[in-house]
Amino acid sequence: MDYKSYIAEKLNIDGVSVEDIASFIEIPPNTEMGDYALPCFKLSKLLRKSPIAIAEGLAASFERDDMVSEVSAVNGYLNFKINRVGYADTLLNEIIGKGDKYGSDSIGSGKTVCIDYSSINIAKPFHIGHLSTTVIGSALCKIFRFLGYKVVGINHLGDYGTQFGKLIVAFKKWSSEAAVLEGRLKELSRIYVKYHEEAKLHPEMDDEARRYFKLIEDGDKESNELFELFKKITLEEVDKIYKLLNVSFDSYAGESFYNDKMDAVVDEIRAKGLMKMSDGASIVDLEEYGMPPCLILKSDGSTLYATRDIAAAVYRKNTYDFDKCLYVVAYQQNLHFKQFFKVLELMGKPWAKDMVHVAYGMVSLESGSMSTREGKVVLLEDVINKTIEKAFKVIEEKNPNLPDKENTARAVGTGAVIFGALCNNKIKDIVFSYDRVLSFEGETCPYVQYTVARANSVMAKCGKGGEYRNVNMSADEYEVISCLGKFGDIVKSAAEKYEPSFVTRYSLDLATAFNKFYMNCKIAVDDENVRNFRLKITKAVKITLTNALTLLGIETVEQM
Ligand code: ARG
Repeated sequence: MDYKSYIAEKLNIDGVSVEDIASFIEIPPNTEMGDYALPCFKLSKLLRKSPIAIAEGLAASFERDDMVSEVSAVNGYLNFKINRVGYADTLLNEIIGKGDKYGSDSIGSGKTVCIDYSSINIAKPFHIGHLSTTVIGSALCKIFRFLGYKVVGINHLGDYGTQFGKLIVAFKKWSSEAAVLEGRLKELSRIYVKYHEEAKLHPEMDDEARRYFKLIEDGDKESNELFELFKKITLEEVDKIYKLLNVSFDSYAGESFYNDKMDAVVDEIRAKGLMKMSDGASIVDLEEYGMPPCLILKSDGSTLYATRDIAAAVYRKNTYDFDKCLYVVAYQQNLHFKQFFKVLELMGKPWAKDMVHVAYGMVSLESGSMSTREGKVVLLEDVINKTIEKAFKVIEEKNPNLPDKENTARAVGTGAVIFGALCNNKIKDIVFSYDRVLSFEGETCPYVQYTVARANSVMAKCGKGGEYRNVNMSADEYEVISCLGKFGDIVKSAAEKYEPSFVTRYSLDLATAFNKFYMNCKIAVDDENVRNFRLKITKAVKITLTNALTLLGIETVEQM
């Protein structure tokens, strides 16, 4: 129910469009004042009257009805009270009727969004720096799907570059197939770190590494087998984490996938007269746009990260015909995206405007920034496992008889990690702290999950409920109703702003409103009308919170 438009239409003010009036209407911070308010100073210039006179005039002429039951003029504001019981009825029935579809929409139907996220690098440890892109991207996939879009989730693997030559050198010197199969990513990371220590003393190792990388490119059997081994180990390891985080992809086409697709793109850039030579390298000059040049080919003819991204964008457009292509990548790479988006535009691709860099903040450690080369990282797997362990301990302490403790601890532990990463505006930098992730106090996922479990236990205790008539709604009840009604808009603005944290914050607000209602309004009362109404609210809250958490990739638990 769109009350703003409904009110605007009824107001019917000469010379002001319904859309404008609707956009002026606000939701007052204190619902005691009214459910909606029109600040009349926004109209005073146009109508050449004081806000007070406008408000009074409109209050006198507005016809009250079944939808809007009260209108009053207060200090130049026109306050509206809607028929709350009628509204609650319609809304609760809608939520319960739609169930896990409540909040969804069809605005995206017929449209496709590509989302490039997680995009890990082969043979590198999966550390907490990858958490943001992974969970933000995954939540955006779920949010866009919920709105009816066709979504293509892409893991643009970092599986190309001299580092694989380095890894082969390191492997031959200090490891073996058996050791890699046993030690997995930790072993690969160990030899990679060692390589960088040793190469400082023996720079000639880098020549050898370049030679091996060339061998990979030239199709040498042994080098490619090793590379495939590194790739396989990496994907198996990260897959475990993806499973825990409820993350999945539609494509794993990474950098090397574009090996045979770059010539065409490079030719096109050249044919369009965009290519310039600079110190032997081929570049697209972007000075006119206030940017350093975009490197297309090194002086030895090899391609770069940007070349692969340009080829990938063209491939995605041809393959998926996207309406939007999102890149969930840290803001560190701002320039890279600006540059290659510009190159696409200069190449005359009209869809260059549909490319979006969804930038997010950096994660650093309390001891400074992370570094794979120095082995200074916190592994995501360790964080998740520790959090699950902690959840298990808390359950043992507080609710030792809970059935299926392991599963609950897993849902709560991983939920805490995901929620923690999606809690704040995505552009904010984060200093990683174990204490904070492990804390279950305050604005956290366990709090929201606990609220769902509480709603469940209320329903289990009070039975199914039934119809009700003539309820007098209290402020606490209305607070929950009003919050429930906002979910659809929240999901849409989360998609529009690429900001899953809107959903996270919303789940906290709804949980808080529900818990206040739960404290102040006894549900298991004798009066059947009141009990049934409150049970219905409880059921709707459970559905809506579950839907919100599901969009974030977080599971709910029946009991906690
Ligand atoms: N693998 C890259 C990195 O870790 C991120 C890739 C992002 N996606 C892209 N199409 N450039 O920095």
